[in-house]
Amino acid sequence: MDQPLADKVALITGAGRGIGRSIALGYARAGAAICASARTREAIDATARAITDAGGKAIAVQTDITDECQVAQMVAETVAAFGGLDILVANAGVHVCRDAVAASDPAEWWQTIETNLKGAYLCCRAAIPALRACGAGKIITIGSGMGHKGLPNNTDYCCSKAGLWMLTRVLAEELKEDRISVNELIPGPVDTSMTADNKNEDSVFNISGEWIKGPDDVVPLALFLATQPAVGPTAQSYSLMRRDP
Ligand SMILES: NC(=O)c1ccc[n+]([C@@H]2O[C@H](COP(=O)([O-])OP(=O)(O)OC[C@H]3O[C@@H](n4cnc5c(N)ncnc54)[C@H](OP(=O)(O)O)[C@@H]3O)[C@@H](O)[C@H]2O)c1
Repeated sequence: MDQPLADKVALITGAGRGIGRSIALGYARAGAAICASARTREAIDATARAITDAGGKAIAVQTDITDECQVAQMVAETVAAFGGLDILVANAGVHVCRDAVAASDPAEWWQTIETNLKGAYLCCRAAIPALRACGAGKIITIGSGMGHKGLPNNTDYCCSKAGLWMLTRVLAEELKEDRISVNELIPGPVDTSMTADNKNEDSVFNISGEWIKGPDDVVPLALFLATQPAVGPTAQSYSLMRRDP
């Protein structure tokens, strides 16, 4: 079987379910050793078990990505288990607030920013020394069309993903000399627990003609980004949507 990620180590945040779980399983099938992380122990254990049962290598590290110490521990455990880190998929995310700004709860609003932006920043920051030590690497941020175009009643999510897209581009410039590429993957609407209760008229699920995906549909693009040469694309956004974001 073709294994383009043989000998690579990938850390995927939010790998307990949804898109992150599919990417973890997809990378493992491609030969990578996987660190599956999220807050829910049973979910990441199940992801890691699915990989090891199929003959792959995986660990599960329970992590809240908003906690700097836990994030440092997540990277340290990955390096200790597999001897390095080649790929970080900053996938974990939430969408807490569904109200217009005037009606919104600041605590809910901040929770989304703290997870999607600060959490991704902490993961990238902690992973950089390990990626540098391997002489090259990939950071893939899971963005959103809503980070490029505002949707009413979604400001927490739109602002968090707009910040993530800027983080992606700044990091790409900072890490060019290190042969670490940093790119954004925009999945478009995917049926997951995040979107299960958000199919109202403001949702991307109601954009006419949009491709509604399952989590496994995101894997080929995630694999493409993980397998580009070190001199390949960086600071780019790749979308699976059928319209401009
Ligand atoms: N579904 C879509 O239509 C869609 C579209 C565009 C972009 N995205 C993005 O794709 C990514 C994955 O979303 P999904 O749809 O697969 O959602 P999901 O099924 O709800 O999965 C989210 C994952 O993130 C983890 N997570 C949440 N908060 C965390 C925290 N503080 N620390 C560590 N892990 C945390 C969750 O696990 P725990 O709760 O156990 O921690 C879970 O494993 C997100 O960044 C999302 O914004 C999704």
